[in-house]
Amino acid sequence: MIALSGLAVVGSQWGDEGKGKMIDYLAKKADMVVRGQGGNNAGHTVVIEDKKYALHLIPSGVLNQNAINIIGNGVVFDPRGFFEELEMLEKDGVDTTKIFVSDRAHIVFPYHRKMDELFERARGKADIGTTKKGIGPCYMDKIERSGLRTCDMFDEASFIEKLSYEIDRKNDMIVKLFEEEPLDKQAIIDEYVDYAKRLLPYIKDTSILVYDAIKQGKNVLFEGAQGSMLDIDLGTYPYVTSSHPTSGGFTAGCGIGAGSISEVLGITKAYTTRVGKGPFVTELDDEIGDKIREIGHEFGVTTGRPRRCGWFDGVVVKYSARINGLTGIALMLLDVLSSFDTIKLCYAYDYKGEQIVDFPARLDALEECKPVYREIKGWNKDITGCKTYEELPEETKEYIKAIEETIGVPVKSISVGPKRDQTILRDEIF
Ligand code: GDP
Ligand code: IMO
Ligand code: MG
Repeated sequence: MIALSGLAVVGSQWGDEGKGKMIDYLAKKADMVVRGQGGNNAGHTVVIEDKKYALHLIPSGVLNQNAINIIGNGVVFDPRGFFEELEMLEKDGVDTTKIFVSDRAHIVFPYHRKMDELFERARGKADIGTTKKGIGPCYMDKIERSGLRTCDMFDEASFIEKLSYEIDRKNDMIVKLFEEEPLDKQAIIDEYVDYAKRLLPYIKDTSILVYDAIKQGKNVLFEGAQGSMLDIDLGTYPYVTSSHPTSGGFTAGCGIGAGSISEVLGITKAYTTRVGKGPFVTELDDEIGDKIREIGHEFGVTTGRPRRCGWFDGVVVKYSARINGLTGIALMLLDVLSSFDTIKLCYAYDYKGEQIVDFPARLDALEECKPVYREIKGWNKDITGCKTYEELPEETKEYIKAIEETIGVPVKSISVGPKRDQTILRDEIF
């Protein structure tokens, strides 16, 4: 049994690794679940019996009735999305009284969504393939120091004044730069003044709540959104999101000290997917890729787009292990590989005839990298009912071992289906 306070859970690839499932699973032992970055660009699926929940902004711990769920200061907060999600949960009888939003979180406005769309259009063929949720433009305003935060909502008159000024500025750009119709200023103000009133009970200095929980030795789970390769600094820039999905993102994004995190679990798909544009060395643009997409139901939760699929990229996950300080891996969607005769695992890239194992920064270098594969015999058996590691076929164990050898981090849990009970724990995580 490990005595822990802070467990960080991060996506180790390009997002959609199954974070929602694992966070819900681990949250049964958590006192608090905290998001620290991203916004409602995230799409985290939790399956409970026959019901499927898609969470975008509210932490995936909410379906366990004990934990306090926190949206930290590093999150870009879309009130429209928040209330839609809240309503969906309340309809299903989920207790939503233990959700708090940081008073320092930046607010997403309709002009951010509009700018997201216009910037993408202007990029033409070089578009990023964003979720169009206004994430990048909201972080732009934050960094440029013109954003509005949830604490600005407390004083209605000054909130309206600041918001009016920003809408005018954005309408100027929309009209003059993009030659589009301006947004309806009064409609935005009315909508957001109403949100401000409804949000008051949720807004708190959440850093204090997290600090107190850690100090009291409570089980605090930090929920990552997106994936490490989408990190603004460490990912495949510019084909990334605008925040820090790596473990470092939790310190600034939740207002905690670095010592508050003692374990970092990398949620890792047994193969690789990516939604949106950007380099992807092990991508399978063929019938094998189609088969993975079909069996894994690889379509985006937020945008419905088909996800690009490929074999497991060990270079990516090894890089992820280093930049996150991964102490364990939760291997997800392993059952999706159950009907392949041979499974390939990329352990290096061939770059101009030379084998490299460190993930390169340059996109043009990445474009030239070819995967170097190790082949593993498939197990060709249904593993969705396996409850223990011992029950797994020998070939499946070989594949898990090969992943551990490539990454140098232990696989602490194995997921063989989307449901809570389709989880095999090899080691105490929380
Ligand atoms: P997240 O963004 O990391 O939370 O992942 P998503 O929810 O976007 O995508 C993961 C998908 O895989 C969801 O549809 C999950 O229900 C599903 N899933 C999670 N774990 C497993 C698993 O072990 N096997 C299968 N077949 N599906 C899984
Ligand atoms: P979860 O939490 C997968 C991708 C988008 C795009 C890029 C930038 O479900 O794993 P953005 O709208 O963030 O500016 O888009 O990042 N992206 C994700 N891909 N899973 C996600 O979240 C993602 N969130 C953003 O597709 O390529
Ligand atoms: Mg997702």
